[in-house]
Amino acid sequence: ESLEPCVMVIFGATGDLTHRKLLPALYNLALEHPLPAGFSVVAFARRPYTDESFRQQALDSINQYSRQKPVNPQVWDSFASGIHYLQSNFHDPEGYTKLNQLLNKLDQERGTSGNRIFYLSTPPSQYPEIIQNLGAAGLNRNRKGWTRIIVEKPFGHDLATARELNRQIGKVFKEEQIYRIDHYLGKETVQNILVFRLANGIFEPVWNRRYVDHVQITVAENLGLEGRAGYYEESGAIRDMIQNHMLQLLTLVAMEPPIAFDGNSVRDEKVKVLHALQPLVGREVQNNTIRAQYGSGWVGGKQVPGYLQEQGVSPTSTTETYVALKTFIDNWRWAGVPFYLRTGKHLPKRVSEIAIQFKQPPLMLFKDHDTQGQVEPNVLTLRIQPDEGISLKFGAKVPGTDMQIRSVNMDFFYGSSFVREQPEAYERLLLDAMHGDSTLFTRRDEVEAAWSFVQNILDEWKSAPRDTVHTYESGSWGPQAADEFIWRDGRRWRRP
Ligand code: BG6
Repeated sequence: ESLEPCVMVIFGATGDLTHRKLLPALYNLALEHPLPAGFSVVAFARRPYTDESFRQQALDSINQYSRQKPVNPQVWDSFASGIHYLQSNFHDPEGYTKLNQLLNKLDQERGTSGNRIFYLSTPPSQYPEIIQNLGAAGLNRNRKGWTRIIVEKPFGHDLATARELNRQIGKVFKEEQIYRIDHYLGKETVQNILVFRLANGIFEPVWNRRYVDHVQITVAENLGLEGRAGYYEESGAIRDMIQNHMLQLLTLVAMEPPIAFDGNSVRDEKVKVLHALQPLVGREVQNNTIRAQYGSGWVGGKQVPGYLQEQGVSPTSTTETYVALKTFIDNWRWAGVPFYLRTGKHLPKRVSEIAIQFKQPPLMLFKDHDTQGQVEPNVLTLRIQPDEGISLKFGAKVPGTDMQIRSVNMDFFYGSSFVREQPEAYERLLLDAMHGDSTLFTRRDEVEAAWSFVQNILDEWKSAPRDTVHTYESGSWGPQAADEFIWRDGRRWRRP
């Protein structure tokens, strides 16, 4: 499909996200896709930059973070000529008047003909002001072209603030103009979940409660706070990872096949899964969730301090850096099948995966070679990152004169099956927003449904005693309590 030239206005353009992700992603698109000649960027922020000095900064970021190096001078020159800097406070109406003038000028000079994307990449506390000002300046729609708005995470701090933010945006923009980012949806392996399930005939028949014993979704990070204590203290793992990325993974694994592959059909089905999540309330929260903070320890060969010793963290903080939880989906496909989710910082390695563990055959005739006990169950693992791929574990006869079984793997690796490098999540998402395709963005009801599930947990945690926050050694796989939590069900966590 051909792409119409447009202007992307980035609010908060001097921030980390713009430099680490957005500018490198736009440059990569310009290089590989390529973007239409007139594509332009307006960087809107408070700090004093000129077009020239901001372009220099942008070049530095791209040199540092783009997966395409060295920078191609011709592509860069033409990309850079479309970058403009507008210095303003977010609350100053005059900034928006100037923005309007600049946009009109670019429409004529660069042929962007009224097509605009506003990207909110500021701290979320600024969102309402920016949205209101865009509306007041009449920038929320224009007669010449299309207008869209991309909203970065976090989308709200809890259910009430997410609803309020939806209401505020909804007053100024129509739902089909709004693109809420969850960058996990832009990952190749995450998009492949639906392809794997629905482009193949053999998996869907076993993708249900008759054959699946349970599902484990893991997003493990070896990183710690990365200087983000201010944000993280207020957020914690449940807001930072579960409410968005992990519930998104869960919906893609669990949803019914959509009637078409388009924004609303796909999201209709995802929302149904979120509505079918068994809410955890009151005591159920204590029984079905584990939260913990990392203590000191070793990660990647380096000694690291505990969470409470990190700079910017309150010594009495109860913010969790690890969450494990169990939930059920109350529908015909999944009733009774536990979904275990866990995520944490300062774990032994960076690895995200979805593991579907199947039920055992009704009668086992063989013994495991190594343990002389039960043969391991079949597990289908979707490896999200790194080592992107899929593997299926099954039992095979160990060669020999007796009948002994050992687990083996059938493996697919992106790296060996495809030569093409994977684009960054943001490349795909920015391109989709330019195309007007919202399939990989979250809808209003979807964010609110995800928050509803999380809100119950937050409410209960708030009133729970401090000692319900466990501790785990940095570089370990989480607190002992999380192991006991799953052992109670006669299962264990995978060690990816
Ligand atoms: C972000 C979180 O949304 O996702 C971070 O705020 C986290 O805390 C990051 O590290 C993980 O993303 P990725 O793409 O590195 O798995």
